[in-house]
Formats: sequence, structure tokens, C-alpha cells
Amino acid sequence: MVLNFQKDVSLLPYNTFGIDVKSKKFVSVRSTDELKAVLNQNQEKRLLVLGGGSNLLLTKDFEGLTLRIENRGIQIVHEEQRSAKVKVAAGENWHYFVMWCLDNDLGGIENLALIPGSVGAAPIQNIGAYGVELSQVFESCEAMSIETGELKIFNTEECEFGYRNSIFKNSLKKQYIITSVQFNLSKAPHQTNTSYKELSEKFDGKSPSIQSIAQAVVDIRSAKLPDPGQIGNSGSFFKNPVIPSRQFTKLQQQYPEIPHYPDQEGKIKIPAAWLIDCLGYKGYRVNDAGVHQKQALVLVNYGNASGAEIQKIAYEIRDKILENFAINLEFEVNII
Ligand code: EPU
Repeated sequence: MVLNFQKDVSLLPYNTFGIDVKSKKFVSVRSTDELKAVLNQNQEKRLLVLGGGSNLLLTKDFEGLTLRIENRGIQIVHEEQRSAKVKVAAGENWHYFVMWCLDNDLGGIENLALIPGSVGAAPIQNIGAYGVELSQVFESCEAMSIETGELKIFNTEECEFGYRNSIFKNSLKKQYIITSVQFNLSKAPHQTNTSYKELSEKFDGKSPSIQSIAQAVVDIRSAKLPDPGQIGNSGSFFKNPVIPSRQFTKLQQQYPEIPHYPDQEGKIKIPAAWLIDCLGYKGYRVNDAGVHQKQALVLVNYGNASGAEIQKIAYEIRDKILENFAINLEFEVNII
């Protein structure tokens, strides 16, 4: 097996924020065997595992090994009358997999069309959009222990999914690398989810095909989220905060129009975009770093921003939100 370890590699092509920093060492892996061999041979203490590079902000050169997961393969592994289990290699592009499902008339992830990133990264933050979360169609994932190189299967319960959260961001952080994911998808006739406001308005009580839902989601996202191919970004930079209902009641007295959604255990979720917008940050720009003009939750790189410049805006927004609303915004994006 030939492993192509490279030195001083620019990570510019590998992160959607379009930040140009170098990694001391770099290697791509195309199979679990290659991954195991890399982990075996690696001498670097610091390891950066990259999928699509769509959820990270690089702020300086990385003094370690960057490992890019590039295994491929989509396979139906089990079929029943109404459902199919599909196993997907971690290195597959998420949106490509959504399109594959539409071509094969398999339902469940059509609301998650156009989310950047790889399939292997999807469970880590339990990606979600337009009323659907990955955890709802997740069957299991296979992951390799960084320490021992052993493979382990995690079922839904073991992943401890939450809002943009899983065990891989908490107690097992930096301990496992996801190598494949199995999904439990539906066969036609599909039960679709149009609960999200923009979808229910569009489909108005009708039951659309999974293909029409995906198209609607693509249209909505394209209208307000910047295309990383044109303007560097990592999607939502912040998580939507969830606050106790007592705190919310006070806030609502001050801001009667504040949008809100009930969350778990009587708590209330508030769109961070609304809070940021309220402080006038939409369209804010310092040099090439800024806040997207159409969605206040998204930080952007107009060209030559450094990671540090974007990070500075993120901290500034977080501080101002704390000062004005007494709400602690958490970053959804990983700052490296
Ligand atoms: N809003 C503003 N200003 C803005 C944008 C939105 O006030 O600039 C308000 C809107 O009026 C709306 C509310 O915020 O009432 C919610 O906005 P939107 O429906 O666009 O959703 P979001 O809460 O901003 C979340 C996810 C997105 C996901 C959408 C759709 C998080 C952190 N973000 O955004 O996920 O696509 O819902 O389901 O949960 C991502 O994670 O990268 C991402 C894009």
C-alpha cells in the first residue's frame, strides 16, 4: 500500500471558507485499510480530520497531520417492501448522496438537499434543515478508533444525537473517525415532511414528491445562502440558542415580535439570525470578512479574508449578543 504523505500543503482547496493556511503534513485515504495504515504510521500528535471541509474555520497554519477522507461507495444493503437500508462511504459528498436517493426514489433526506459537506461528517453534528434531522433516518455508522485502529458500529442511541450535536462532539471527540454511515430510507409512496414554514406555504396542504421537495429546498437555500463555490462560508456559523422559558418571557416583553419555537423540556429556541440582525450586523463587513447580506447567521469570506479576521467578527457578534440579550451564542463551526 502506497500512502502519499505530503509536506506543507495548502488547505485552500479543502475548506469551503476558502482560507489559505498550510498543513505541516497531509494525506488522503481512500479505504479503511489506508486509514488504518495512516493511523499506524502517523507520528504527529495533532490530527485534523477533513471531510468536505464545510464546517471549520482555519485560523493559522496547522502543525500536524491533516487527513482527508476520500473513500467512496453507495450500496443498498437490505430491502423490505417499504424501506431500504443504504450504506454510504464517509467520503461521499452529502448532496450527491441526496441526488442518488432521488434517482433511486428513496425518501427521507430530500429536505437536506444542498447541505455542503461529506456523508461521514453528517452524523457528527447531526445535520438538519427544513424540518428534518439526520438522526431521523440514521441506522448506524462505522467508525475507526484513532488510538487502536479498531472499527466499531454505533447505533442511533449510542450516537446521543441532539440539536447539531452527537457523542462525536462530546465524550468521543477526537477519538473516532467515521468511515461509513447506514441510513434507513423509505420506498414510495413516501410520507414527506412539509412542516417547515417555507415548505408548507409553498405546497399548501398538497403532498409533493420527494423530488419536488428537494427542488424547493434547493431553491430556498440558493436564494438566501451563499454558494461556497462563489463566496467562502461554512453555512450557519452559530447555533440557534435554546433558553429557559422564564428568560424568554422577559425577552418577549422587550421584543414582542421575536420569532421562537418550543424546544425540549419547555425551553425555547430562538433564531440566532434574528438576534444578530436586530443588532444591525447583516451585511457587516471588515475588509474581506463579513456577515452575509441575506442571512445573518452566515459569516463569509469575500476573497482574501484570513481565518483570524472572520474569527474576530464571530467573537464580536458573540460578545454583543451576550451584552444586549444576555444570551450565550455557541459556534456551530469548529475553529481550528
Ligand atoms: N431571520 C432573521 N434574519 C436573518 C435570517 C433569518 O431575522 O438574516 C429570522 C427569520 O425571520 C426566521 C428565523 O430567523 O424567523 C429563522 O430563519 P431560517 O428559517 O432561515 O432558519 P435559521 O434558524 O436561520 C436554521 C439552520 C440552517 C437551516 C435552516 C432551515 C441552525 C444553526 N441553522 O437556520 O442550517 O438550513 O434552519 O431549516 O440551526 C447550517 O446549519 O449550516 C444551516 C444553514
